[in-house]
Amino acid sequence: MPHFCQYQNEKIMKALVYHGPGKKSWEEKPQPVILKPTDAVVKILKTTICGTDLHIMKGDVPEVTDGRIIGHEGVGIIEEVGNAVSNFKKGDHVLISCITSCGKCNYCKKGMYSHCEDGGWILGHLIDGTQAEYVRIPHADNSLYPIPAGADEEALVMLSDILPTGFECGVLNGQVKPGDVIAIVGAGPIGLAALLTAQFYSPAEIIMIDSDVNRLEVSKKFGASQTINFKKENAVEKVMALTGGIGVDVAIEAVGVPESFELCESIIAPGGHIANVGVHGKSVALHLEDLWAKNITITTRLVDTVSTSMLLKTVEGKKLLPAQLITHHFKLNQILDAYHTFEHAADEKALKVIMSND
Ligand SMILES: NC(=O)c1ccc[n+]([C@@H]2O[C@H](COP(=O)([O-])OP(=O)(O)OC[C@H]3O[C@@H](n4cnc5c(N)ncnc54)[C@H](O)[C@@H]3O)[C@@H](O)[C@H]2O)c1
Ligand SMILES: [Zn+2]
Ligand SMILES: [Zn+2]
Repeated sequence: MPHFCQYQNEKIMKALVYHGPGKKSWEEKPQPVILKPTDAVVKILKTTICGTDLHIMKGDVPEVTDGRIIGHEGVGIIEEVGNAVSNFKKGDHVLISCITSCGKCNYCKKGMYSHCEDGGWILGHLIDGTQAEYVRIPHADNSLYPIPAGADEEALVMLSDILPTGFECGVLNGQVKPGDVIAIVGAGPIGLAALLTAQFYSPAEIIMIDSDVNRLEVSKKFGASQTINFKKENAVEKVMALTGGIGVDVAIEAVGVPESFELCESIIAPGGHIANVGVHGKSVALHLEDLWAKNITITTRLVDTVSTSMLLKTVEGKKLLPAQLITHHFKLNQILDAYHTFEHAADEKALKVIMSND
């Protein structure tokens, strides 16, 4: 395989580097180069911070090692492609998927890109990520998407991760149907992405549950019919009161703690679907003593990003307006301020923060 010398004419860039739990810095790193013929190097134009990056910063994702550049979302311009890349050339504007996929292995052939034998969620996790001036994208042909001319590029950053995640893990796995009553537990960016994309299917009622007053207000603007502040009222009783004592057809778990999953178990109607989206670090009680006869389905999923092309079309057709998820803007070199804002989301009224590499 052709191998370009990594250290010859090494160029320097700036990047957000993880140095163990609680430690990060904006520092100089070598610019990435093509390592395999299927790689592309992308100059980042816009990137953002995910709830998962905060998990990494807390030390919850121990595979992320000292020195790693984090970030798995963004849009950019192709700087260089390996000689096996056929879909893209230097200068093309691209959307970066949070999931890297070869498109050829057994999992990719099944549409399960999340488990690609030479990819999956590796960006900003097992290899250097997008919170940098440049990033190397393996399997570029299948892991990048062309940006349509005239598109609002910053809005498309919402398609790297959160919209496919809310849609695939929440709405598709939950099998949301016209007329359904659904509850979304957690009104963070992922829960809100599920709220926006659930409306493709015209559910009759969407109940959003959180304790962040701003996020509950935003939920109403985004189409929720009811909101419940679980710290101020009993969420189970309220859902039961709203559904005539039956519960919901679909409960989407978008938090990742035992309480939120158990809430889904308590409010699910017979025949219903519980779609887990949250990343869980602790075991959760499964109440089969209540659920065994309820004909319910429980699903789990790591986002595959197989819906990205479809979601791009809904954005182009203005059926989905992702720009409304962006609340704050920073320059890429102000990324430490952006982290501070995102870490204090309730006080700052923050949803997604955008960093621009001008
Ligand atoms: N499955 C996947 O592929 C995938 C992909 C991306 C993110 N995730 C996970 O999805 C989850 C949500 O992501 P996010 O970026 O929106 O996170 P976030 O932290 O921004 O939002 C979580 C929301 O849940 C609320 N909350 C906390 N405890 C609650 C409770 N008991 N009941 C109801 N609401 C509660 C918080 O106030 C917050 O608004 C995280 O666990 C994230 O790691 C999963
Ligand atoms: Zn993410
Ligand atoms: Zn694959």
